[in-house]
Amino acid sequence: LNQILFKNPNEPPMVFHWFPIIGSTITYGIDPPRWFKQQREKYGDIFTFVLLGKKTTVYLGPAGNEFILNGKIKDVSAEEIYTVLTTPVFGKDVVYDCPNSKLMEQKKFMKIALSTAAFQRYVPIITAEVDDYFKRSADFKGKSGIVNIPKSMAELTIFTASHTLQGSEVRSKFDEKVAALYHDLDMGFSPINFALYWAPLPWNARRDHAQRTVAKIYMDVIKQRRAAGATETEDMMWHLMNSTYKNGTPVPDHEVAHMLIALLMAGQHSSSSTSSWICLWLAARPDVMEALYQEQIEVLGADLPPLTYENLQKLSLNQAVLKETLRLHAPIHSIMRAVKSPMPVPNTRYVIPTNHTLLAASGVSASDPKYFPEPDLWEPTRWDKDSPIAPSSAIQASGEDEEKIDYGYGLVSKGANSPYLPFGAGRHRCIGEQFAGVQLQTITAMLVRKFKFSNPDGTTGKVIGTDYQSLFSRPLEPANIRWEKRDE
Ligand code: HEM
Repeated sequence: LNQILFKNPNEPPMVFHWFPIIGSTITYGIDPPRWFKQQREKYGDIFTFVLLGKKTTVYLGPAGNEFILNGKIKDVSAEEIYTVLTTPVFGKDVVYDCPNSKLMEQKKFMKIALSTAAFQRYVPIITAEVDDYFKRSADFKGKSGIVNIPKSMAELTIFTASHTLQGSEVRSKFDEKVAALYHDLDMGFSPINFALYWAPLPWNARRDHAQRTVAKIYMDVIKQRRAAGATETEDMMWHLMNSTYKNGTPVPDHEVAHMLIALLMAGQHSSSSTSSWICLWLAARPDVMEALYQEQIEVLGADLPPLTYENLQKLSLNQAVLKETLRLHAPIHSIMRAVKSPMPVPNTRYVIPTNHTLLAASGVSASDPKYFPEPDLWEPTRWDKDSPIAPSSAIQASGEDEEKIDYGYGLVSKGANSPYLPFGAGRHRCIGEQFAGVQLQTITAMLVRKFKFSNPDGTTGKVIGTDYQSLFSRPLEPANIRWEKRDE
C-alpha cells in the first residue's frame, strides 16, 4: 500500500516486494539476468528494486548502458559502492581507495605495461605454462578422463597471469602457500561482505592476514629489484615501480604491491570463468573444437608451429569463440554506481535521486533477440558478417571509425550506447581486455592442439547453468567435461 500511496511519479516503477530491507535481494540473487528480463516484461527498461535495503535502479538496453557507464563524474561514483569490498582485499591507496583522478593515473601506468611488445613476450610464456600444467596435473594423467574444469582453469589462469604480469620471481613463489593466500583474499569478495566487510568474522581475519602477507611478498621483490638495480625485465612490476604521478610523486612501493594484487584479482575471476565456459562449450560442441583445429592447420600449417602473438591474430574462429562466450557469459553481470546528484533520464519523466544506486547489466542486451538473432544459441560463426544470425548491423559497424575519448588512461570508445559491452565502458572500462584476449586465445589454441572434449553424458549443444553466488558469475560446479588426448 505504501508503495502505491507514496509513489513519486518522477521515479521509475518499484518492483513489488513483501519484506522491507530484503526486498528483491533473494530473487535477484538467484539468477540476475533472468530476473531482469522478467521485470522488464512488467515494467520496461527502467525499474527500481530493493537490494539489501538500498533502492537500486536498473536501466537495461543500450540507452541504459550509456546513461550509467558514461555517467559524469559529478553524477555517479563507483568507488563509493565498491571500496568496502575491494580496499581490504587490494590494500590502501589504490583503485577505489583514492580519488577517481588517481585511479585514472594508475590505470594509465598499468595500461602502458600491457603493450603489443609485452604481449609478444607473453605468448611463449603462456604456451610453456600450459604445456607444463598438463604434463604435471594429476587430473590429466593417461589418455582420457573426466575433470571438473573450473578448478583446472583457475589454476592455469593464476600461473599464466602471475608469470606474465608479475614476473618470474613472483611466479616461482606461486606454490600452494600463495595459492591458499589468494583463496583467503577471494573470500573477501563474497556478496555477503557488502554488508559484513567490517565484521570480526573468521574469514575477514584471514582476508586481512592474506592481504598483508601477499603485499609483503611483492614489496620484498620490489626491494630486491631496487637494491640490485635490475632493469632486465620490463614486466608490470617494473613499469609500476618506475612510474611517477603527474604531481611528481613516484608510485610508492605499497601502492605497486596493492595494484599488483588488484590486477591479479580483477583478471583471475573474469578470465578463469571465461576459459571454463569456453571449455564447457567446446565439450558441448565438438564440431567447433574440430573446426578450430582445422583452422590452425589451414592458417598456420600442418606442423602447427609454436604460437605467437602475430599468428593468434590470424585465427579468426579462435577469436570468435572468445567473443561469443563473453556474449553469453559476461563474468560481471551487474555494474553499480552511487548517484551523486539527481539524474534526469533523457526522454523520460524520471529523475534518479541521490539515495538510489544505479545498476547496468549489459549481459541482458547481449542476449536480446532485438540485437542477436537466436540469442541463446552459442554460435561463434555468428560474428562472420555473412552469417544468417549475424548481430544487428549497428554492432558490426562499431569499431575503428568510432569516436574516442581519453579519461586519463588512453583512448576508449566515446559511446557506451551498445548492447555488447563485456568489458564495460567509460572511465571505468576494463584495461585488461587485450591481455585477457591474449591469455584466453592462447589457452584455447593450446587446448585445441592437445585435446578433444565432449560432454560426459554424450549430449551436445548444452552446458551447465550459472552460479551467481559470487560477485563474478561462473559455471555451477561440478562442471565436468570428458577429455581425450589427441596425440597419444
Ligand atoms: C574493469 C570485465 C579481465 C583489469 C572492468 C569492467 C568490466 C571488466 C565489465 C568495468 C567494471 C565497472 O565499470 O565497474 C572484464 C572481463 C575480463 C576482464 C570480462 C576477462 C574476460 C581483466 C584483466 C585485468 C582487468 C585480465 C588485468 C590485467 C581491470 C581493471 C578495471 C577493469 C583495472 C578498471 C576498474 C575501474 O576503472 O573501476 N573489467 N575484465 N580485467 N578491469 Fe577487467
